[in-house]
Amino acid sequence: MELQGKRIIVTGSARGMGAATVRAYVQAGADVIGMDVNDEAGTAVSAEANAAGPGTASYLHVDIADRDSVEAAFAQAVTQMGGLDVLAHPAAIQRSSDAGDVSVEDWDLMFAVNVRGTMLTNQVAHQHMKAAGAGSIINFGSISGQRPEPSAAAYSAAKGAVHSWTRTAAGTWGVDNIRVNAILPAMATPMYQEARARSTEEQNVANYWRNLNSIALGEEYGDPDRDLGPVMVFFASDASKFITGQLIPVDGGQTSVR
Ligand SMILES: NC(=O)c1ccc[n+]([C@@H]2O[C@H](COP(=O)([O-])OP(=O)(O)OC[C@H]3O[C@@H](n4cnc5c(N)ncnc54)[C@H](O)[C@@H]3O)[C@@H](O)[C@H]2O)c1
Repeated sequence: MELQGKRIIVTGSARGMGAATVRAYVQAGADVIGMDVNDEAGTAVSAEANAAGPGTASYLHVDIADRDSVEAAFAQAVTQMGGLDVLAHPAAIQRSSDAGDVSVEDWDLMFAVNVRGTMLTNQVAHQHMKAAGAGSIINFGSISGQRPEPSAAAYSAAKGAVHSWTRTAAGTWGVDNIRVNAILPAMATPMYQEARARSTEEQNVANYWRNLNSIALGEEYGDPDRDLGPVMVFFASDASKFITGQLIPVDGGQTSVR
């Protein structure tokens, strides 16, 4: 019951790390509202977590790239929960693209969802948290934003922007007692499995040497419930109250950040 009384929004809650985060928070006693564009799966994830308890979970639709949608969904969530203490923000999309021929459409889509979506959800959460006098925002960066990423040029650039934004938001909102950090995960989720399924055998061998070989703890991506959930609880809890502006790899040792 580490998070009893905490009022939390989780974006991207329909699957992957968002869904695991909803489960971890409800298990720790929090009141959670999951949000996604995938309403059917999002509703099911929240209903299942709510039934398991001891916290509560419900679901609202949001498109994080759209200001009106974010403002409306967050306002409704805050009314429903009576305030907002934590925003966990895993929602994102990933597309493969080469630096030489990345299209304007893919570039704009990646920045609309992954970068504008981070700015909008953080900004609106900040407004509600400021009123409450404290808060924790947990963004999602990537190793892709830390190193050259030949197969995902636009995604890599967008995640680099998320890292910079996280530092700036933390530096700006510390005065309001609101901390902002970013998790850099390596977890076996649908996003990761879909990317693997699209790859040829040769690409999967290259993927092993590029991404798996460096995971010191077992050479495999983590399990979101087992390996990420407890970290998400820590960053939502008061135990992390003196940590802000940090990029935190939760990746078995795949990468190191400064
Ligand atoms: N899987 C990994 O190993 C890995 C590695 C590095 C970074 N990441 C990052 O971690 C985060 C979580 O990744 P995941 O693997 O759980 O992804 P996922 O694709 O499994 O889940 C992402 C969720 O976000 C939702 N979403 C997409 N666009 C949205 C929008 N416009 N509005 C609201 N919701 C939207 C999707 O419907 C989906 O439910 C992402 O930010 C991703 O970039 C993942």
